[in-house]
Amino acid sequence: MPINAFPQWTPALLQEQIDAHKHRPGALLPILHAIQDRFGHIPREAVPLIAESLQLTRAEVHGVISFYHHFRTSPPGRHVVQICRAEACQARGSRALEMHARETLGIDYHQTSADREITLEPVYCLGNCACGPSLRVDDRILARVTPERFDRLVDELTTQVLKVS
Ligand code: FES
Repeated sequence: MPINAFPQWTPALLQEQIDAHKHRPGALLPILHAIQDRFGHIPREAVPLIAESLQLTRAEVHGVISFYHHFRTSPPGRHVVQICRAEACQARGSRALEMHARETLGIDYHQTSADREITLEPVYCLGNCACGPSLRVDDRILARVTPERFDRLVDELTTQVLKVS
């Protein structure tokens, strides 16, 4: 499933996520995860709602969002490609793969290609260490990803299937 199949957020839906977690100890992180899981990113309009519900300042909420690279503040592209940067994958060539991916897509980590098809993100271990370099695309994990295989993946993700009747 492309990861962009997220519903549109509304203030009421954001508040629903906040209310579901605000009584937990250390509620801020569970709230941020819940909002991103539901809507694909954390809209800036969520910040004042969270701040008010947890009696924090907006700056404190912003600070946590920007500290964790996991959190997105804008909607992702149609697909999210995450390249593993952890040690075992590095030993198996992930540095070359990430350089190739950035050049091919013309973007850096945390950016989305101009056609809004692919968002590129780093990840630190996908539990697939013996078969690196590893990569996750949406909900699929791929092993032993070479630059050539990456190119085929991009073709696959960006090719629209046309139905001829
Ligand atoms: S180090 Fe890359 S999957 Fe574990």
